[in-house]
Amino acid sequence: MKQFHPLKVAAKSNETRDSVRISLDVPEELRAEFAFMPGQHLPIQIERDGKPVRRTYSICSAEGCWPLEIGVRVQPGGRFSEFAANELQVGDVLDVMPPTGRFHLPQERDDGRFHIGFASGSGITPILSIIASILNTEPSSRFALFYGNREQNTTMFIEDLFALKNHYPERLQVHFVFSREEQEFDIAGGRIDADKVAELHRRFCAGVDVDAAWICGPESMIDTVTAALLDLGMEDDAVHSERFGAPRKGGKPAAAKADAGKDAARITVIMDGHKKSFDMPGTAANIVDAAADQGVELPYSCKGGVCATCRTHVRKGEVSMAINYGLEPWEVEKGFVLACQSTPVSDEVVLDYDKS
Ligand code: FES
Repeated sequence: MKQFHPLKVAAKSNETRDSVRISLDVPEELRAEFAFMPGQHLPIQIERDGKPVRRTYSICSAEGCWPLEIGVRVQPGGRFSEFAANELQVGDVLDVMPPTGRFHLPQERDDGRFHIGFASGSGITPILSIIASILNTEPSSRFALFYGNREQNTTMFIEDLFALKNHYPERLQVHFVFSREEQEFDIAGGRIDADKVAELHRRFCAGVDVDAAWICGPESMIDTVTAALLDLGMEDDAVHSERFGAPRKGGKPAAAKADAGKDAARITVIMDGHKKSFDMPGTAANIVDAAADQGVELPYSCKGGVCATCRTHVRKGEVSMAINYGLEPWEVEKGFVLACQSTPVSDEVVLDYDKS
């Protein structure tokens, strides 16, 4: 099982007036474990009021670059983001789990491809890593980014994008869309909705086959952009998306539904070659929480069905998943589930965390 490791904060700076950039030093002996695929994220844990607080932040560094960088948008009342902005200092240590997540460039990549990206706000972080990695390592690939923000001075990583654009002027297009600033051209103003996607596509991707689309932002933006790209003829498996933050209902992360009338089930987990079993009562909300109640620690971060840190394989039995934003359809078909969203359907369930 992936473990948290203490990583030192090597640098911290204000990215915009409401976001910070944090660099994490990864010691030589942990570099193999922290090697990441562009687009992946890091679960980070701190302690507040004696309780663990876990959040997941996308890596914005280019592939193979150290230290690892993340960008944190400060959310009013956000326990991690306010701590990161106001209290965290260079030299402090954060508990960080090795990279995880299914939104990433493939391990084997072809050169000469045309990628597009749609990012909204802090959704730029994984996409910045994807863009820089493609441009640095695939000499003939190109990228067109469409990046929505309220206004220029809250736009994260704008300097990094300008630097990349200067370095790769022929292969990178960056198109900003600002919703709260008047723009000279209509195409650069407003929100990224279905009409805007169609217009941007017509203007900047006409006559070119788009090989892959990368989308990151809030849920509604992802749904809109995905539907618009499919309408424009892109194949389903060429459109990749990452939702930012756990979807919330009534202010709490969604959880699998507990069933008070249901009998306990026997859950066995296989992890690092070892087996552990426990009984999960019918009232337990999900397998991760039920395991914790029995002293069995399973990996998790968002507990909202988004980050896939809790991904596991059902080797025996059946579970029901409440929400799934973290797994691809092929993974679900092959029996992978998100344990934070799963409750047992059969009396006995065996989960294999070693299967990848
Ligand atoms: S912990 Fe994030 S999807 Fe389960």
